[in-house]
Amino acid sequence: MIGGGYVGLVSGTCFAEFGTDVAIVETNPDRLAALREGRIPIYEPGLDRLVEDNVAAGRLTFGDDIAAAIKGVDAVFLAVGTPSRRGDGQADTSYVHAAVKQVARAADGYTLIVTKSTVPVGTGREIARIVRETRPDLDFDIASNPEFLREGNAIQDFMRPDRVIIGIDESRPGGATRAQDILRRLYRPLYLLETPIVFTGLETAELIKYSANSFLAMKITFINEIADLCEKVGANVTDVARSIGLDGRIGKKFLHPSPGFGGSCFPKDTRALTAIGRKAGSPVRLIETTVAVNEARMQAMAERIIAFAGGDVRGMTIGVLGLTFKPETDDMREAASITILGQLDGAGAHIRAFDPAGMETARAVLPPGVTYCGDAVAVAEGADIVVVLTEWNEFRSLSPDKLKKRMKGRRIADLRNIWDPQVMREAGFEYISLGRPE
Ligand code: NAD
Ligand code: UGA
Repeated sequence: MIGGGYVGLVSGTCFAEFGTDVAIVETNPDRLAALREGRIPIYEPGLDRLVEDNVAAGRLTFGDDIAAAIKGVDAVFLAVGTPSRRGDGQADTSYVHAAVKQVARAADGYTLIVTKSTVPVGTGREIARIVRETRPDLDFDIASNPEFLREGNAIQDFMRPDRVIIGIDESRPGGATRAQDILRRLYRPLYLLETPIVFTGLETAELIKYSANSFLAMKITFINEIADLCEKVGANVTDVARSIGLDGRIGKKFLHPSPGFGGSCFPKDTRALTAIGRKAGSPVRLIETTVAVNEARMQAMAERIIAFAGGDVRGMTIGVLGLTFKPETDDMREAASITILGQLDGAGAHIRAFDPAGMETARAVLPPGVTYCGDAVAVAEGADIVVVLTEWNEFRSLSPDKLKKRMKGRRIADLRNIWDPQVMREAGFEYISLGRPE
């Protein structure tokens, strides 16, 4: 497994849990040192125990030497990052290309190279070309096995997935069968659970990943716009979402309004799909709109907080609950808090913030003036307004009275709809949320 980040570490550990011997190669010295010392460099519930068990069982090892790691293996998975390229929104495949060259140079026999990273359509064939150029003598196959795990629920998502997608190079008759056999063996425990395993072509598998993420991002953006509309016409988005979601063709998940989707994947993958569409001469306009609406939404949320404060937040204290792009992660990549707190800070507000897992990662990306608090209630100290940006469970059970005692003002902007408007009003707050009658 090349890359020991969210996907490489979780996938590698889960494959080890399935009974396979896994060597994870990680080049970031801090991440590698942590892993070697038995520390998990990312926040992912349950991962520490699973890593510990599999290291103890001798099935899971960590290192930085690709040649040593891939000696005699059945398959090499690439789980390196594919961030957005500055400017054009295309996925940056340079880490994938670099890893492929390293693998090709070090390979000592037949090698099945599998992309787990989310890669643009055509990358599989590009990888094959790079391998042929680097090692004309090497016997190899390429497969695409995109990953659908979510941060915060990663182990469950990997061990009990809705489906597994395996794209193989159908133009290589013998190779295709060999690659299929290896991947079937690897995923055998999931066959036993009757998980749908879809074999398809390389390009199709690559496009499935972007289509799935973009569809979900579009669904969130849809409900966000409906939430805005609800506010204008006096409707309730919770009832709208629940009721449309009861139609099995729509489905109830991913219909929670928010200050905008963030994270390491939806923003970059929606941008990448629009770039793929444009390049292919077949623009994906719904997703182009999704990208634009979501970016504008984060800005609009900051403006909404400022308007709620009376139009000017200069000198005001704003308490912020939640900073990460969603609960149960320490990941701050493209979190709505970055845009929103950037604007509030720029407008002269003093920000007091708390996040159960993301304080360290937040410090690196949020304005330097933010005060980080020791617990959730402390953000309310002297605050004119309290804003909820991430729906961590521990915030749901916060007592309104405790907040009120510490606050200077009485305004709460709940941008994740974690509290009941009536309860908050009865507790004496001026309370706004998304798409629900005030
Ligand atoms: P990440 O940045 O957390 O991890 C990538 C790791 O690869 C880093 O630790 C980096 O040091 C390491 N690396 C880079 N080049 C290397 C090399 N040549 N040799 C060894 N290690 C190397 O990224 P991530 O979140 O795990 O995402 C990886 C890929 O998986 C991306 O394409 C992403 O889109 C996709 N993905 C991510 C998620 C998620 O929830 N994070 C889910 C599904 C798919
Ligand atoms: C997402 C997908 O859910 C995974 O299937 C996929 O593998 C992954 O991207 C990836 O490719 O990396 P993740 O980014 O971990 O997983 O988190 P999600 O739970 O999907 O949330 C993404 C963003 O959407 C968050 O900011 C979240 O707050 C937001 N969201 C989610 C909403 O605003 N409303 C919802 O109803 C659901």
